[in-house]
Amino acid sequence: MLLHTASWPEVEAYLEGSKGIIIPIGSTEQHGPNGLVGTDAICPEIIAHEAGEAGGLLIGPTFNVGVAQHHLGFPGSMTLRPSTMIAAICDWIDSLHRHGFERIYFLNGHGGNIATIQAAFAESYAGWSLDADPCPYRLKLANWWELPGVMEVCRSIFPVADGSHATASEISVTYYAYPAAVKTVTLNPKIAPEGGFADAADYRARFADGRIGSDPSGATAEKGAKIVASARDALVREAQAFFKR
Ligand code: NI
Repeated sequence: MLLHTASWPEVEAYLEGSKGIIIPIGSTEQHGPNGLVGTDAICPEIIAHEAGEAGGLLIGPTFNVGVAQHHLGFPGSMTLRPSTMIAAICDWIDSLHRHGFERIYFLNGHGGNIATIQAAFAESYAGWSLDADPCPYRLKLANWWELPGVMEVCRSIFPVADGSHATASEISVTYYAYPAAVKTVTLNPKIAPEGGFADAADYRARFADGRIGSDPSGATAEKGAKIVASARDALVREAQAFFKR
């Protein structure tokens, strides 16, 4: 069930049987010449939506702008400051807890969000600790590509140059989600350079077309379907176990 398309009595009824919800969380940032700007939000969203249907889980709205300051050299990229994102995540948690949710599972699609989501969890728990009240909820962060078995599927499909940004795997997932948005572009170089970066200007200077280490020229919707199926099944198992704890 999607929170967005449920009515409040349906949410109230769901809460009688489960206190758990999954929040897809991602980013709006460039993903190279053939990748969608919404890739990091689309991937956790499609996986969560399919898991919600398969496992009878409630899926909340997608938190779709994250910490992506290093991508701002490319048109369309958006960012939150880490401090803004921490405050927003804490408000999402407080809103859900007010209605009785006690297990909030954040399915993340962007490596650049990890430190900030963890900081938000620490901020949220700190309020309870400082008040000396036991916190009634538990928070979980999982990156979709680290769900059990998913990396093995990605490696079997793309054994070479899946890369670390604008990966062939994640672009395949978005093509599966939005087949009408598939881009046909010649990539040059075929495999993007590897390396680190600091701010947006530094990133653009090092990675001219936005990719890092990847060759997403072989991305297809069919390959994305296999990756999503693997992630969907793993997420159902992981979320059901977390909601029961
Ligand atoms: Ni990405």
